Amino acid sequence: MERRLKEILAAAEKNIFNIADHNSLNNYWLELFGSNGIITKIFKDFKTLPSSQKPEIGKMANEIKNKVNSFFNLRKIEINKLKLKQVLDVTMPGFRPPQGHLHLVSYAISEITSIFENIGFTRVRYPEVEWEWYAFESLNMPKNHPARDDIETFFIDTPSSKKYGRMVLSPHTSSGQVREMERVKSIAPIRMINIAKCYRPNWDISHTPMFHQFEGLVVDSGINITHLKGTMDYFARKFFGPQRKTRLRPFHFRFTEPSFEVDINCGLCLGKGVLDNGEKCRLCKSGWLELGGSGMVHPKVLLNGHIDPQKYTGFAFGWGVERTYLMKEGMKISDLRILYQNDIRFLEQF
Ligand code: DAH
Repeated sequence: MERRLKEILAAAEKNIFNIADHNSLNNYWLELFGSNGIITKIFKDFKTLPSSQKPEIGKMANEIKNKVNSFFNLRKIEINKLKLKQVLDVTMPGFRPPQGHLHLVSYAISEITSIFENIGFTRVRYPEVEWEWYAFESLNMPKNHPARDDIETFFIDTPSSKKYGRMVLSPHTSSGQVREMERVKSIAPIRMINIAKCYRPNWDISHTPMFHQFEGLVVDSGINITHLKGTMDYFARKFFGPQRKTRLRPFHFRFTEPSFEVDINCGLCLGKGVLDNGEKCRLCKSGWLELGGSGMVHPKVLLNGHIDPQKYTGFAFGWGVERTYLMKEGMKISDLRILYQNDIRFLEQF
């Protein structure tokens, strides 16, 4: 037994100091001290020794057990030091902290802003909590007029004003038209680009209750439809690229006369109405997507902003930012709501 003990000590010392990680060290400890371990077994066999040998061999076995344990402890410290050395390797490349970026709608807004600023428009913003007067009446949409039903609205539960009516969450950026005329004290020219949050109680694949619009308003002497058409063509070329197409469809809005819907060919199916897999395009259904309205400013709206319609004319347009951005080439999003679900896996792609 004495020889066995010496052999065990020599082998353990050699093995322990060759082990390079904590896992293997633990496994080796179990080989020696586990319930079937080599050293455990020696202590079991100890009972069978003649009692004359017990004191000497017992002492030796204990010493060897303690020595082996101290080798384990020593090696644990050495392995920690080795690991530490690796962690402190100053030549290793550093970890990059995660870097955020603007939301894609913010990118779209700054791009739209700069496109219009380049041709002399001024970016403005007007209240999101608005009076009915600016949102409807001043735009030639009197109370109880059926056109007002088309624009579903969130009403604010506050006392209403005699002059301005009830408070609403602005359902469109057109609310800024008469506010802009007031800002410039009714002195033309006006070249406004109003980009803001709008609110309507809708929630489906192409609507979120909060969305963004950008509204253009130009008022000056001699403004006519060619200026409207030219401005929209300019924007379409700059924002979507030279290949994207727009079309004008006669329409009706209370605040413009004549009025048009501006359409652009769909970026998801590229105007075919059918996806590559043969399915009907979920986003557009027909190949064309409605960007929003436009038209020549109604004389009553100019009058509400104290501008003389005999001297001045104007055009206006109001398009959805999200809608417009999605139609941009390469954007294949079939459900608009994902924009505001804060899923980082979606957002970090842009
Ligand atoms: N305000 C309209 C809407 O939200 C869009 C619109 C149509 C704006 C025609 C305009 C316009 O400026 O001329 O549905």
